[in-house]
Amino acid sequence: MSVPEHDIADGRLAEYGAQRIAWAAREMPVTAQIHERFAAERPLDGLRIAGCLHITSETANLALALQAGGAEIALCASNPLSTQDDVAAALVERSGMSVFAVKGESNETYYEHIHRAIDGRPQITIDDGADLVSTLHSDRRDALDTVLGGCEETTTGVIRLRAMAADGALAYPIMAVNDAATKHFFDNRYGTGQSALDGVIRATNLLLAGKTIVVAGYGMCGRGVASRADGLGAHVIVTEVDPLRALEAVMDGYRVMPMAEAADEGDLFITVTGDVHVIDEPHFARMKSGAILANAGHFNHEINLEALSAISEQERELKPFVTAHTTADGREILVLAEGRLVNLSAAEGHPASVMDMSFANQALAVEHLLRADPPLAPGVHEVPSEIDQDVAQLKLASMGIELDTLTAEQQRYLSSWDEGT
Ligand code: ADE
Repeated sequence: MSVPEHDIADGRLAEYGAQRIAWAAREMPVTAQIHERFAAERPLDGLRIAGCLHITSETANLALALQAGGAEIALCASNPLSTQDDVAAALVERSGMSVFAVKGESNETYYEHIHRAIDGRPQITIDDGADLVSTLHSDRRDALDTVLGGCEETTTGVIRLRAMAADGALAYPIMAVNDAATKHFFDNRYGTGQSALDGVIRATNLLLAGKTIVVAGYGMCGRGVASRADGLGAHVIVTEVDPLRALEAVMDGYRVMPMAEAADEGDLFITVTGDVHVIDEPHFARMKSGAILANAGHFNHEINLEALSAISEQERELKPFVTAHTTADGREILVLAEGRLVNLSAAEGHPASVMDMSFANQALAVEHLLRADPPLAPGVHEVPSEIDQDVAQLKLASMGIELDTLTAEQQRYLSSWDEGT
């Protein structure tokens, strides 16, 4: 096997990367089944796929399934801090994939890597956050004409793509994989719930019991973080802008208040809103000394770090992924992982078992895109519900869990309207 074009930290990490990929595979039975079928049927034969994804052991298993289906794979990171360098090494050295990703790369290198993935002239794009699609539609329009379609992994990316589609700017069809039920009900909730706290704990070793944790945003990710923090004995405060979500948080047993008030009370703040400057200057001004700020939303815009730097007299790294900002009035505010995704920067991201469903959806969505007849129009497309049902069934089967089936009488009853009291 010849070594393809790449830019990674160190090819010598390949052995450990391969072990970690195999470890993740043990918890990814649905992706494994798709891998096996793809290897037999080769539905992606000769297809060039570029993935702008977190380069993790779970992503590696998706990439291997696509490769088994006949695709030629190029990968770049979807966040400068989330790359697992050993995994990148294994994919290059053992599997012949082009990988352009180094943990800790600068923003400039991050975009250079996206360009290098585009240089391979992808026919399918798989994004996590839509940076690949956005680059293709701005600086790299030269490479747009060979693209047949794409898939998007995350809420933030789907929001960006819908904005592009609304502007008439989206040039090809993209499957909103995030919106599949077997993706966002599980990955966003149980995945982010566990991995965000894992990131905080690995960075700080903080005892969460008894602490006041402010969760900004009560979408699927926020629900997961709040419920896991609650389970570990924290006092949870939720901040929201949406009345329905706020009401749900209240009825789930949490206190809900504006960030301006929560700022006084929080020991730890976790942002999962997908919006900008959710924690801003007026909030920093009210925080206790020692308050810890972490973000588990896609982009590093949720905490206004520029405003924090502007009121800080000193910034120093206390330990990996923990930066202390000393304010003029002598307080210390601690920021984890530079405000980037704490779960992928300071820990390993979501556990493989949940990524199994997300990436099964990705693989099946790519196949769906290719098979669609007539071809899908440019725009954002839902994952068909049969794919969701299949993924859920396969996951349950892999857990040895069986379901009831409707009897003929029950089916008749559900489709009738004349039987009342
Ligand atoms: N997003 C969140 N967790 C992830 C993981 N483990 N691998 C890839 N993408 C992720």
